[in-house]
Amino acid sequence: MKDRVYISDVASHDGKEVSIYGWLYNKRSSGKLWFLLIRDGTGIIQSVAFKGDVREDVFQRCEDVTQESSVKVTGTIRADKRAPGGYELQISDVQILQLTEDYPITPKEHGTTFLMDHRHIWLRSSRQHAVLRIRHEIIRACRDFFDNRGFVLIDAPIFTPAACEGTTTLFETEYFGTQAYLTQSGQLYMEAGAMAFGKVYCFGPTFRAEKSKTRRHLTEFWMIEPEVAYLDLDGDMDLAEDFVEYVVQRILETRREELKAIERDTAALEKVKRPFPRITYDEAAEILKKKEVDFEYGSDFGGADETIISEGFDKPVMVHRYPTEVKAFYMKNDPDDPRKALCVDMLAPEGYGEIIGGGQREDDLKILERKIKDHDLPKEAFEWYLDLRRYGTVPHAGFGLGIERTVAWICGLKHVRETIPFPRLMHRIYP
Ligand code: 4AD
Ligand code: MG
Repeated sequence: MKDRVYISDVASHDGKEVSIYGWLYNKRSSGKLWFLLIRDGTGIIQSVAFKGDVREDVFQRCEDVTQESSVKVTGTIRADKRAPGGYELQISDVQILQLTEDYPITPKEHGTTFLMDHRHIWLRSSRQHAVLRIRHEIIRACRDFFDNRGFVLIDAPIFTPAACEGTTTLFETEYFGTQAYLTQSGQLYMEAGAMAFGKVYCFGPTFRAEKSKTRRHLTEFWMIEPEVAYLDLDGDMDLAEDFVEYVVQRILETRREELKAIERDTAALEKVKRPFPRITYDEAAEILKKKEVDFEYGSDFGGADETIISEGFDKPVMVHRYPTEVKAFYMKNDPDDPRKALCVDMLAPEGYGEIIGGGQREDDLKILERKIKDHDLPKEAFEWYLDLRRYGTVPHAGFGLGIERTVAWICGLKHVRETIPFPRLMHRIYP
């Protein structure tokens, strides 16, 4: 395919004859003219055949070609302000590589279940295309943020011997005669990394056997988790707001076209600038009380509670110092109020709920040993983790940002299922 030119590169071929290898996205005719919309993954180009200008068999193939047939289209690139994308292809030849019959996804409306069952081809639609390109750029921005600040990438394992985020959402698997679990978070390994490299992060898939069907939960999701030695909760919140501002502003800079394609209101995203509001758990509980929400002080916030708390802010809000009982074993207690954990959740605006969870870690060996016991966790599996408190323990903190919830928020999507190429949900493992 030496003669292939990508649609994204046609601007540098103005006036020249090129071949585009792609698929028919859509077409229309007005008697003597055929307009074929060709997509090749990098873009869509309008290609035009005029009956008097092309061979009869070529014009006939324009007539015959069906949606999502694979095609090679040859012609001359012409700048045209009226054409979507600013360039048009004047067809000289059309080759149908495979004529598609009965493509299941047509321009008419389809139900969600149908589309999810056809996710493997639904990815070809322009809306899914825009969302997944934004996802790609969000991931790139996340990595750039940490890479540009001297963080070392330390990959965390997927098979783990113990729970990190509570035993109720563990996926178990048999591991050569012993029991292993799919990782819920790379955090514990990042703590080891931070003691070795100072500033580290991991980025990878994490797993939770979430038995609830909500629009915010996947059983397999991607998380980016920084961890820093000699960092306290305040420093952790500074890092988190700096990070989220960077990611959102980067998408506004580089993915305007895609945000427009999915009709995202970008004004709301423009406001995502530091500083973000910081409130305590107690203050958040007070907001719920004032709004007469049925909420029991001391319990964790549910999705609906988070939406109500964040309604009062047009930026992400950081809620810190939750009661220790609702948080994981590794959190450090607040020395000023030991009933509270030095933790933070960042709630996205517009009702998108928690996108970040993190905080300062327990760095005292004795207290950590007691916490492991109180949480009924097997101490043997955590001996290596306790070593980090035996050999040069220091205050340290970090957090995890869920990629899919961040994509849902930035794209303005109701459900996380469209934020990942092949979502895994309680009732979905196909395709
Ligand atoms: O709040 P979580 O459970 O925190 C941790 O796992 C920490 N160990 C991270 C750390 O400090 N290094 O999860 C972090 C984020 C959530 O804020 C949310 O964005 C996302 O991960 N998340 C999920 N996303 C989709 N589906 C699920 N089931 C999720 N569970 C958590
Ligand atoms: Mg959380």
